[in-house]
Amino acid sequence: IALKDRIRRLLRERNAVMVSHFYVHPDLQDLAEETGGIVSDSLEMARFGRDHAATTLVVSGVRFMGETSKILSPEKRVLMPDLDANCSLDLGCPVEQFSAFCDQHPDRTVVVYANTSAAVKARADWLVTSSCALDVVGALHAAGQKILWGPDRHLGDYIQRQTGADMVSWNGACIVHDEFKALELELLMKEHPKAKVLVHPESPSDVIALAHAVGSTSAILNAAQRMDANEFIVATDTGMLHKLRTLNPGKTFIEAPTAGNGGTCKSCAHCPWMAMNGLVELANALETGAGEIHVDPALGVRARVPIDRMLAFTA
Ligand code: MLT
Repeated sequence: IALKDRIRRLLRERNAVMVSHFYVHPDLQDLAEETGGIVSDSLEMARFGRDHAATTLVVSGVRFMGETSKILSPEKRVLMPDLDANCSLDLGCPVEQFSAFCDQHPDRTVVVYANTSAAVKARADWLVTSSCALDVVGALHAAGQKILWGPDRHLGDYIQRQTGADMVSWNGACIVHDEFKALELELLMKEHPKAKVLVHPESPSDVIALAHAVGSTSAILNAAQRMDANEFIVATDTGMLHKLRTLNPGKTFIEAPTAGNGGTCKSCAHCPWMAMNGLVELANALETGAGEIHVDPALGVRARVPIDRMLAFTA
């Protein structure tokens, strides 16, 4: 309690607002909402930070989210609880190699996922998050464009199957979603025959094939509220369960199985980098200014072009 009070005071004193991702610890999600910030996906976090009057943004999530906020609000100070909180998709897509891949396909429109470095964004024509990827690629395909997609291969495959777009893809994956297992999921579905299965499209295609609803964290949240069922099996980071349970007190949410212990691993689907966000680190960042995100201004200007395109598309 004392720590939370200190953070509340520091947020006021520093003219700061906090945005948290659905995957961080419930304490950080609740604190963001209590103090006038939001809990959301990367798209809405970015938009909220850009439009808010605060002069400091505190981003509880992973590094690319802090960078995106900084790119959209270069005049604001952007702090993160832990600057080492990274993302396997970002780490698995180094700009030199990705740029060379793009150079091999000059006829293709480059569409990259938000989970990338500022430098990769700067090389892209379009940025998307999982909540708008299908619509953006669908629109580009309808306009006759061929796509170069990166870095999540599962999401890329899913979009390709849904839209029929001509796509070549970078071969990256999210270390959390990549671990969901179809066989074990089918067994769990037999144990819970009435449960609806909600799957994030960063999961393997055989897991997606078992879903009653496929989509981003916001789409999963909507599906759980909308669908006429009392039980749900959820294949995304377990951080998501907090919001699902708070907004749906009468419904039961069960974690989808991942590898480990023969598919019986409990609470394993949690990003180790998201888990680096804690109250102590947050208080320290606000107190000392540690954890400030810096993006080279010239790079930021280039990276902003595909981000602004996405924000305008989804406005
Ligand atoms: C994000 O964009 O925040 C992540 O892809 C998770 C999601 O919202 O689906």
